[in-house]
Amino acid sequence: MFRRHVLLPVLLLFSLMAVSCAGPQGEAGPVGPAGPAGPLGPVGPAGEDASASQTFIGAAQCGSCHEEIYARFGLTGHANALSAINGQPPTFPYDTITNGIPEPPAGYTWDDISYVIGGFGWMARFVDNNGYVITGEAAQYNFANENLELDAGWAAFHPDEQVAFDCARCHTTGYAAQGRQDNLEGVDGTWVYEGVQCEKCHGPGSRHAEDPQGVRMVVDRSAQLCGHCHVRDDKATMDASEGFAEHNQQFSDLYNSKHFALECVTCHDPHASARFTDADVNPNQGIGQVCQACHWEQEMVQNVSRHGRVTCIQCHMPLMAKSAVGDLNIFTADIHAHQFSINPDPNAPQFSEDGTQVMPYLTLTYVCGQCHNDEIADVKDPAEMEAAARGYHTWIPPTATPSPTPEATAVPEATPTPQP
Ligand code: HEC
Ligand code: HEC
Ligand code: HEC
Ligand code: HEC
Ligand code: HEC
Ligand code: HEC
Ligand code: HEC
Ligand code: HEC
Repeated sequence: MFRRHVLLPVLLLFSLMAVSCAGPQGEAGPVGPAGPAGPLGPVGPAGEDASASQTFIGAAQCGSCHEEIYARFGLTGHANALSAINGQPPTFPYDTITNGIPEPPAGYTWDDISYVIGGFGWMARFVDNNGYVITGEAAQYNFANENLELDAGWAAFHPDEQVAFDCARCHTTGYAAQGRQDNLEGVDGTWVYEGVQCEKCHGPGSRHAEDPQGVRMVVDRSAQLCGHCHVRDDKATMDASEGFAEHNQQFSDLYNSKHFALECVTCHDPHASARFTDADVNPNQGIGQVCQACHWEQEMVQNVSRHGRVTCIQCHMPLMAKSAVGDLNIFTADIHAHQFSINPDPNAPQFSEDGTQVMPYLTLTYVCGQCHNDEIADVKDPAEMEAAARGYHTWIPPTATPSPTPEATAVPEATPTPQP
C-alpha cells in the first residue's frame, strides 16, 4: 500500500523529466500532491541528561515567564526560609501582620548576624558570624499568637550548647553536603540560594529557560518530595515533647494516617502559603481541595447541633504541634496535626508513656479540649464527651414517631394556586 503511494508520484516525475529532455521545451505541469510521511527513522543515541547539564538560574528568572506562580510563591515560607543579613534587618511579606523582627538577640547588632532562619510565620533563629546558631535563654524570637493571647517575645534555644548550622539541607536550594558556605566554621555544607526556591523542587532550569518546549522541568507530585524536609528522624514515627507534637513532621503524620495514599498537593498548592492568605493571589490559603469534596457524607451529619460553626479542620487537624508556642491549659499550640482520625475513647493516651511519641490518632483531650476547657465552651464529663464523639457523623433516626399535634392537623391542605 505504502510503496504504491510513493512509487506513483516518483514514476510520474521520471516520465515528466524524460519528456522534457526529448521534446521541445513546454510549460512545466502543476506540482503533484505531497506523498504521505515516511516511516520513523531508528532511535538516535541517548542525549545527555537534561537536568544534569543544567545550571541554577534563580526564582526571579523563572518568574519572568511564570509570572502568576512567582507572585504567589514570593508570599510563602519556602521563598523566605533563610535570609542572608548584610547589616540590615531582614524583611518578610507579612511583616505588617507579624510585626517582623525588631532587633537581633541581646548583645548582638545586625552586623554580628550572618543569617536569619525563618521569621516568616512563627519564629526566627539567628546565625552568628562564625556560622553557629545563636543559643541562650533569649535566642529565639517568637511572634505574637492571638489564639493563645501571647505577645511576641524572646524564648530559650539550647542554652549553654553550641549548635552548628546544619539546617541548610531543608532551608536552602542547591545544597551540597561538602564544604562550608562563606567558609564559616559552624556551617555544614554549601548552597546556591537561600530558601526553598523553584529549582529545589523542579531541578536546575538554565536549558529549560532557553528552550521551554524542548527541555521540560521535573514535576514530582509525590508526598515524598515534601517529605524530604517535612519529616524529623524517621517517617514512621511522630516525635513529641512537653505535651505537644513536634513541628515539621507533616509527612510522618500523613504516612501514619488513613490519608497515606493522598499527596500533599492533593490539598496544597505547592506555590502558595498555608499560613497566610492574600486576597489577590492566594484567597484559599493554598488549600485547593476541601474535605467536603471527598467526605460529603460527614458534612451532612454532625450530631452536636450547637457545633454549627465548628469546622472539619478544627476537629480533625487541631493545633497540636508546636513550632514557637503552646498552652497546655487549652491543649493548643501553633501547627496543625495531619493525622485526621479521632479516637472516641476518652481514656486513650495521646502520647507514648514516656511522652516522646505521638499515637497514630487524635484524642478527645486535644480535639475537644481545645474548646471545652471553660474558656471557649464548658468542660464536660468524659462520658458525655464520649457519647457525643462515638458515631459523631452517623445519622441517628428519631426513635419514636411523634403523634400529630392539634396545630399540625389544623394546618389546611395547601390550595393549588390557580394557573393564569
Ligand atoms: C523563557 C520562558 C520560561 C522560563 C525562563 C522558564 N519557563 Fe518554565 N515553562 C515555560 C513554558 C512556555 C512552559 C510550557 C511548556 C509546554 O507546555 O510545553 C513551561 C513549563 C514549565 C513547567 C511545567 C512542566 C510540565 O511538564 O508540566 C515547570 C514545572 C516549569 N516550567 C518550571 C520552570 C522553572 C522552575 C523555571 C526557572 C528555573 C522556569 N520554568 C523558567 C517557559 C519558561
Ligand atoms: C515545594 C516544591 C515546589 C516549589 C518550591 C515550586 N514548585 Fe512548581 N510545582 C511543584 C509541584 C509538586 C507541582 C505539581 C503540582 C500539581 O500537579 O498539583 C508544581 C507545578 C508547577 C508548574 C506546572 C503546573 C502549574 O501549576 O502551572 C509550573 C509551571 C511550576 N510548578 C513552576 C514553578 C515555579 C516558577 C516556581 C518558583 C517560583 C516553583 N514552581 C516552585 C512543586 C514546587
Ligand atoms: C529535615 C528538614 C529540616 C531541618 C534539618 C531543619 N528544618 Fe527548620 N523547618 C523545617 C520545616 C519543614 C519547617 C516548617 C514546617 C513546620 O514548622 O512544621 C521549618 C521551620 C523552621 C522555623 C520556623 C519558620 C518560620 O517562618 O516561622 C525555624 C525558625 C526553623 N525551622 C529553624 C531551623 C534551624 C535553626 C535548623 C537547624 C538547627 C532547622 N530549622 C533545621 C524543616 C527543617
Ligand atoms: C487532606 C488535606 C491535606 C493534606 C493531604 C496535607 N495537608 Fe497540610 N494542611 C492542610 C490544611 C487544611 C492546613 C491548614 C490550613 C489552615 O490554616 O486553615 C494545612 C497546613 C499545613 C502547613 C502549615 C502549618 C500549619 O499547620 O498551619 C504545613 C507546613 C503543611 N500543611 C504541610 C503539609 C505537607 C508537607 C503535607 C504532605 C506530607 C500536607 N501538608 C498534606 C491540609 C492538608
Ligand atoms: C527543601 C525542603 C522542603 C521541601 C522539599 C518542602 N518544604 Fe515546605 N517548608 C520547608 C521549610 C524550611 C519551611 C519553613 C519556611 C519558613 O516558614 O520560614 C516550609 C514551610 C512550608 C509550609 C508553611 C509555610 C507557608 O508558606 O505557608 C507549607 C504549607 C509547606 N512548607 C508545604 C510544602 C509542600 C506541600 C511541599 C511539597 C510539594 C513542601 N513543603 C516541600 C522546607 C521544605
Ligand atoms: C481527595 C479526597 C480526600 C480529601 C480532599 C480528604 N480526604 Fe479524608 N479520606 C480520604 C480517603 C480516601 C480516606 C481513607 C478512607 C478509608 O480508609 O476508609 C480518608 C480518611 C479520612 C479520615 C479517617 C477515617 C477513619 O476511618 O478514621 C478522616 C477523619 C478524614 N479523612 C478527614 C478528612 C478531613 C478533615 C479532610 C480535609 C482537611 C479530608 N479528610 C480531606 C479522602 C480524602
Ligand atoms: C466537633 C468535632 C468534629 C467536627 C467539626 C467534624 N468531625 Fe469528623 N469526626 C469527629 C469524631 C469525634 C469522629 C469519630 C467518630 C467515631 O469514631 O465514631 C469523626 C469521624 C470522621 C470521619 C471518619 C468516618 C466516620 O464517619 O466516622 C470522617 C471521614 C470525618 N469525620 C470527616 C469530617 C468532615 C469532612 C468534617 C467537616 C464537614 C468533620 N468531620 C467535622 C469529630 C468531628
Ligand atoms: C472549635 C470549638 C469546639 C470544638 C473543637 C468542640 N466543641 Fe463541642 N461545643 C462548642 C461550643 C461553642 C458549644 C456550645 C456551648 C457549650 O456547650 O459550652 C459546644 C457544645 C457541645 C456539646 C453540648 C451540646 C448541647 O446540645 O448542649 C457537646 C456534647 C459537645 N460540644 C461535644 C464535643 C465533642 C465530643 C467534641 C470533640 C469531638 C467537641 N465538642 C469539640 C465548641 C467546640
